[in-house]
Amino acid sequence: MSAIRVCVFDAYGTLFDVAGAARAAAAEPGGGALAEAWPKLAEDWRLKQLQYTWLRAITGRHADFWQVTGDGLDWALEAAGLAGDAALRARLMDLYRTLPAYPEVPAMLAALKARGLATAILSNGAPGMLADAVASAGIAGDLDAVLSVEEVGVFKPARAVYDLVGQRFGCAAQAVLFVSSNGWDAAGAADYGFRTIWVNRAGQPADRLPGTPAHVLPDLAGLADLPELA
Ligand code: LAC
Repeated sequence: MSAIRVCVFDAYGTLFDVAGAARAAAAEPGGGALAEAWPKLAEDWRLKQLQYTWLRAITGRHADFWQVTGDGLDWALEAAGLAGDAALRARLMDLYRTLPAYPEVPAMLAALKARGLATAILSNGAPGMLADAVASAGIAGDLDAVLSVEEVGVFKPARAVYDLVGQRFGCAAQAVLFVSSNGWDAAGAADYGFRTIWVNRAGQPADRLPGTPAHVLPDLAGLADLPELA
């Protein structure tokens, strides 16, 4: 096994909790419309957002992730009978820019940096969204790079996206540990040649796709203890 030099993280769902926007909006004064609807809204929003990334990629009709995130939200709000609530839409989009990081993230990143590893985000997110999320989570100091698919104008799991890591760090795929909670992203990255960790937070079945992750973890807490990083 060649030595790992760079640890690369997916952003949404892996470092940042994508259900956090709907959950927070439901808890705010005036959030009554979401009191029972928020979990389904969050699930629909995420599913449509991801479907639109794949469909835009295969049809060559790229739009950035902020646009796609708004489009997914519009579908989910209409499905919930909340299509006319412009203030709610604006609030949810605003909250999406400062999604909470999972609690184990800051200590995990600090542990990787303490071992001398390079760290990065590689995300579908548009640069402005990613910058806001990283700043709000207070993790900028433990990330060497925040790489966005906007550099290549196509979404994951296109290979051109995973190419960005080697281009930025000047390393072979075998020197990269790639970490994602999205099963399809973990499969794509493993098939590309990264040593890959699937963070199966939701206890889901494995995706039936080319590419098999090297390890499956329940969250990021044990990442820095993996034998690859010893
Ligand atoms: C990302 C999406 C896939 O951050 O969660 O790239």
